[in-house]
Amino acid sequence: MLVQKTITMLSLVLWQIPNQPSDPDSACKKEAYDSDSLQCVSQNKETANHALYQAHLYDITGGFLFDPGHCDYASGQMSLSVDADRCGCDFVSSYEQSRLPIMREVERSVLGCDYGGTSWTTRVQADGIAKILNLQAGVNHLDVGSGSGWPALFLARSSGCDVTLVDIPMIALSLANQRVAEEGLDNQCRAIVASGAALPFAAGAFDSLSHSDVLCCLPEKMEMLQECRRVVRSQAAMLFTVISISPGLAQADYAQAVEAGPPFIEAPAEYSQMVRESGWRIIGRQDVTADFAVSLRTLVATMTARADEIAAAIGADELLEQKQHRQSQILAVEKGLLKREIFHCLAV
Ligand SMILES: C[S@@+](CC[C@H](N)C(=O)[O-])C[C@H]1O[C@@H](n2cnc3c(N)ncnc32)[C@H](O)[C@@H]1O
Repeated sequence: MLVQKTITMLSLVLWQIPNQPSDPDSACKKEAYDSDSLQCVSQNKETANHALYQAHLYDITGGFLFDPGHCDYASGQMSLSVDADRCGCDFVSSYEQSRLPIMREVERSVLGCDYGGTSWTTRVQADGIAKILNLQAGVNHLDVGSGSGWPALFLARSSGCDVTLVDIPMIALSLANQRVAEEGLDNQCRAIVASGAALPFAAGAFDSLSHSDVLCCLPEKMEMLQECRRVVRSQAAMLFTVISISPGLAQADYAQAVEAGPPFIEAPAEYSQMVRESGWRIIGRQDVTADFAVSLRTLVATMTARADEIAAAIGADELLEQKQHRQSQILAVEKGLLKREIFHCLAV
């Protein structure tokens, strides 16, 4: 017990993510996407889904990665393993807005990168993920709830590892695909529409795994953790971030935390317990709520400073709604109702 505690504390000390990016000049910047090129995706989801599978699933069906038992397909006809509309949270409009030049600037000022990120993972934390997971060429990494590629594509580019992205909204994966093509990462990256709670991969297919603020965005937390465990090899590492409700809150504070937090912030048990019960051992845990608060304040400050440009791009009402939501999150964090943590786990 004491040994276990000492090891945990030791790894916590060794494992603090630094405050500065390792390479501040790295080209973590992309011009806005051409909105016309993506219209077909939102207008014709089925065709676009099929095209995505053709491009990014066929190439691995013959390999060890793909497990037909976990994906609904027959006689060469690919179909989705999930209903594309069955996503825990609605991120579609966030991904649509993320293509706008002003929103890319806002994202750069808040996170330090512009992949259309919808988590609170900063550039510095992404550097930390690569280091802690020892990502490098030859490592086969899975990012669940990858969105439009933050931080998965950044990890592929900065470390040289192979990355598989999994998420549900087509637009997110299309944006990721576009960036993959533009950055010439085709040989390293693939994007697949699937639920984190029903991954279409064979057992032990991956060397490492990450997810950023995904568990607080879907109801099937245990299922996702179990699926994550199933698809990695023994002793593989998983690093994830999650926003949760501080323990022991009075009823009114709890209600405020639920209101301010991500849509599925309520969890049936502590994450440490769920992680252990799904076949993982926690070897590091870092509270990054202070960084989360800084990002939120930077976002609100940028929304205020660039209000005219943002309102012109997304509409004044939308801007007001987003700003009020972020302000409510700041209040909840300042009151100690919400926390954001990084977990580093090993598959047992
Ligand atoms: C907070 S966002 C993080 C996205 C991205 N990783 C990032 O850091 O910007 C959470 C993501 O989880 C995805 N998600 C929600 N439910 C999911 C599910 N059942 N399976 C896979 N992804 C899911 C959402 O679509 C969204 O893209």
